[in-house]
Amino acid sequence: MSELRFEQVSVRFGGRRGMTAVDGVDLVVPRGQVVGLVGESGSGKSTLARAAAGLTPLSGGRILLKGQPLSTRQGERRPLQMVFQDPHSSLNPRMSIGDSIAESLSLYGKGAKAKRTAEVQRLLEMVGLDPQRAFSYPGQMSGGQLQRVALARALAGQPEVIIADEITSALDVSVQGTVLNLVRDLQRELRLSMLFISHNLAVVRYVADRIAVMYLGRIVEQGPAEQILSNPQHPYTKDLLAAVPSHTRSSLTPMAIDPAVRAVNDAEPADPHHPPSGCRYHMRCPIGPLVLPGRGICKESDPAAEDHQHAAACHFADELLPAGKAGLS
Ligand SMILES: Nc1ncnc2c1ncn2[C@@H]1O[C@H](COP(=O)(O)OP(=O)(O)OP(=O)(O)O)[C@@H](O)[C@H]1O
Ligand code: SF4
Ligand SMILES: [Mg+2]
Repeated sequence: MSELRFEQVSVRFGGRRGMTAVDGVDLVVPRGQVVGLVGESGSGKSTLARAAAGLTPLSGGRILLKGQPLSTRQGERRPLQMVFQDPHSSLNPRMSIGDSIAESLSLYGKGAKAKRTAEVQRLLEMVGLDPQRAFSYPGQMSGGQLQRVALARALAGQPEVIIADEITSALDVSVQGTVLNLVRDLQRELRLSMLFISHNLAVVRYVADRIAVMYLGRIVEQGPAEQILSNPQHPYTKDLLAAVPSHTRSSLTPMAIDPAVRAVNDAEPADPHHPPSGCRYHMRCPIGPLVLPGRGICKESDPAAEDHQHAAACHFADELLPAGKAGLS
């Protein structure tokens, strides 16, 4: 598996009257690590993923795999495999599970059929399914089982990177955990390089080595998972964490649960067709100009994340760090 790097990647839809769904994103999925990409609906997560998979053209920037621009590999098999939210729509209902997985295997020539059968069985076992499932059809399996098949199919393509887009969102809560466990086990065993997308930070934190937080087309914070979870530096990340029912609640400052501030925080997301000037979060920010009028800078100047291991795009990020931690990267 290999490193995937996004450099100033932008994706625009709909010409001059359209909107920029992904706006100047810098993001690295290091070799053998899982990067969790989190953000609310419409923040641009799937668009970024689809751009990497070559399903959506870039309007700016570039995407590199092992240091080589992906665009120069046209004609080759895409070295990225995607797993989507709905396993029913990503598998052909008329094809047996075994055939669906075998389709992604590149085994040809003498003895290929036997090798394919053996490899399909090995992959099914790897994702925790009975190898006999090769003879089943999608309609005979549950959503959780199908998502395991989708993972097996992705692995069969021997990709450099796997992109998993909301792969547990359509599953029953009771099954979500087992699929997440599987992703974690596979990652440890195979050292997968993976971009793992979810709108739910509680899901992402379960599998991610690093976390990137996206808001209105931009990455507003990224860093090692444990640092993002224990010391979030961007108010939006704090807001996402506040929705996670866990011990991470204890790291919230009183500010984040003050009712007046909460009202600001619960405001509707900005219109992506007309993103606010300056910091895109300023209409919702509990430490921004709506609550603290002196902070006009947030309306005027777009905060850039510094190039640290753990970085947040906020003029006042240091305020959210626990005493003594300001400036650490
Ligand atoms: N093909 C398209 N044409 C026009 N606009 C699009 C297209 N695809 C996405 N968008 C817009 O781009 C923005 C980002 O959408 P995207 O699907 O990437 O968000 P997301 O973060 O994946 O959301 P979700 O959590 O709901 O999956 C949205 O405002 C969406 O309406
Ligand atoms: S720059 Fe200002 S408005 Fe934006 S997140 Fe930071 S404090 Fe809030
Ligand atoms: Mg999406």
